[in-house]
Amino acid sequence: MAYIVPQCPVQLHQLAVMEIREGLDPPDLRSEILKSRARPCYPPGLAMSHPTTASSPTVLISRARLEERVAELAEEINRDYADTNLLVCIGVLKGAVFFLVDLLKQVEVPVAVDFFQTASYVGTSTPGEVRIRKDLDLFIRDRDVLLIEDIVDTGYTLRTILDLLRFRGAKSVKLCALLDKVEAREVEVPIDYSGFQIGNVFVVGYGLDFNERYRNLPFIGTLADPTSPPPEPTDSKR
Ligand code: IMP
Ligand code: MG
Repeated sequence: MAYIVPQCPVQLHQLAVMEIREGLDPPDLRSEILKSRARPCYPPGLAMSHPTTASSPTVLISRARLEERVAELAEEINRDYADTNLLVCIGVLKGAVFFLVDLLKQVEVPVAVDFFQTASYVGTSTPGEVRIRKDLDLFIRDRDVLLIEDIVDTGYTLRTILDLLRFRGAKSVKLCALLDKVEAREVEVPIDYSGFQIGNVFVVGYGLDFNERYRNLPFIGTLADPTSPPPEPTDSKR
């Protein structure tokens, strides 16, 4: 069962998410984020009632709640795959790494671990096009595969990867996603193991980044003040 987390009062930087997906150079990303500040999406009356700065995210899902839910998901996976002799677990770099590690430490069936890395484009001519930046090392033909992802947003990334895994002849393919931004979905993606449903807000922490920052937060948080300066961009991309 998925847990519903109430939507955070402040909606943030969807534009920044788009620009990150488009893989723009950091200076372009920074200028687009600054431009996006001209139109922050505050619900009326709540504009400055959450004075948190970009460097101190507001907790949306606590560390304790994450631990509890990850343990529950591992329990479900252990139950469902009890008869499997090898479960190929595939994480999507980089965001899913923290979740994958915590989850798999509690999975008791034999696993093999591998990773995809993708780059996505919300471009004009090819909306939703996803490119594989790092492919799998393992062969998955006739294997039970569990895809592990941090967050499902539009669904384009997962849709592409799930299709590819099936095309390569996996015996079974299931998806485990920590966060589900249901309202943002543009293509249908069935989630077999879903941690939390959240509103359409930009979240960071527990692997998720804003411009490569905040991945190491032990909780899921929101950046509540779109008027404070963004973190310095880095050279690497999602
Ligand atoms: P999708 O293809 O739109 O579903 O995008 C999924 C990817 O976008 C995720 O794997 C994340 O890397 C990134 N993403 C989507 N929403 C967020 C967010 O709120 N915070 C950080 N990264 C996000
Ligand atoms: Mg991801």
